[in-house]
Amino acid sequence: MKIPFLDLRRMEESLKSRLKSRFSEVLEAGIFSGGKEVETLEGAISDFLQSNYSIACTNGTDALELALRALGIGPGDEVIVPAMTWVSTAEAVVLVGAKPVFWDTDQYGLLRTDWEKAVTPKTKAVIPVHLYGKMVDMNSLMAKAKQHHLFLIEDAAQAFGAFKDEKAAGTWGDVGCLSFYPTKNLGSLGEAGMCLAQDAQISVKIRLLLNHGQPIRDQHELVGRNSRIDTVQAAFLNVMLEDFEQNQSRRKAIAMSYLEAFQNISEMILPEGILAKDHNAHLFVIQTRQRDKLKKFLAEKGIGTAIHYPTILPDMKPYLSVGDFPNARNLANQGLSLPLNPYLREEEVGEIIKMVHSFFKA
Ligand SMILES: Cc1ncc(COP(=O)(O)O)c(C=O)c1O
Repeated sequence: MKIPFLDLRRMEESLKSRLKSRFSEVLEAGIFSGGKEVETLEGAISDFLQSNYSIACTNGTDALELALRALGIGPGDEVIVPAMTWVSTAEAVVLVGAKPVFWDTDQYGLLRTDWEKAVTPKTKAVIPVHLYGKMVDMNSLMAKAKQHHLFLIEDAAQAFGAFKDEKAAGTWGDVGCLSFYPTKNLGSLGEAGMCLAQDAQISVKIRLLLNHGQPIRDQHELVGRNSRIDTVQAAFLNVMLEDFEQNQSRRKAIAMSYLEAFQNISEMILPEGILAKDHNAHLFVIQTRQRDKLKKFLAEKGIGTAIHYPTILPDMKPYLSVGDFPNARNLANQGLSLPLNPYLREEEVGEIIKMVHSFFKA
């Protein structure tokens, strides 16, 4: 049996035909940037996440950069970033001319709660990352950010649809950034992202920045850029949203099967709180000292896995920073993502469980 980590060709026929027919509608309408589909997407996401403003853009990395620019962060400023995340979180900080200051995570990859020790007079913002879909404790983080007069940008790229106390990931901070990269829980058929803002002025600034600083055509009020979403991606996302809840239930059911099956394997640490509402079950990351051997063993049995991520940011050439970062480093060395997506078949989940058991018994 060959079990891919994720194979997007497996989308159901009914979904494929809805996507094709929506594509035809866009083609017939002849509007390929902005328009009704973009407005519909922004409205639907505002309703679902209870966000005052939802501003679609080209991708999650641009969303982070737009957020930083909209908040006026730039040269001479420091921004606190977890040592373990996808590279975009720090990349965006460098792109606006500011300095990422890395802080260790907890055992599961979330910014450690003593991050305020990294605050200096130059610190302007903190970017917590809801890594693997699990929300950072935002109540305590917001209180500390407020105390230090820092902006709070949530990197919610992996956490679309996670809620804590009925409040969605991405709607707590000054700006929340989403990615609709195809592998995400809500993924487009290409690149797309979004900024969530709760303040009208910030939302206006983001909209200006992503469209060359124009409130209306040919009136340029500031130096912006082109980070507009493609109409066709917004249209695909509107279709994908129809299946979101159903896909989430499937993800949670698979996560529950794994948790039950692996609870007695003492050599393995399981993801924490993956069934709770503040986790969207984006990734199922286990940790074991035998990570590389397990990955190889599963590959030999035809089971695809992935590592999110093998290198911590302060160890990467463009972001080199001194510091120990023991938890983040541990996760980089021991974390392994097992397949977790709505396209997995029941017998495949059974096979993955069987093979993981057979590895640890041997
Ligand atoms: C934590 C995190 N931040 C930012 C991004 C950037 O999103 P995108 O790939 O849409 O630019 C991603 C997605 O890959 C991510 O996982």
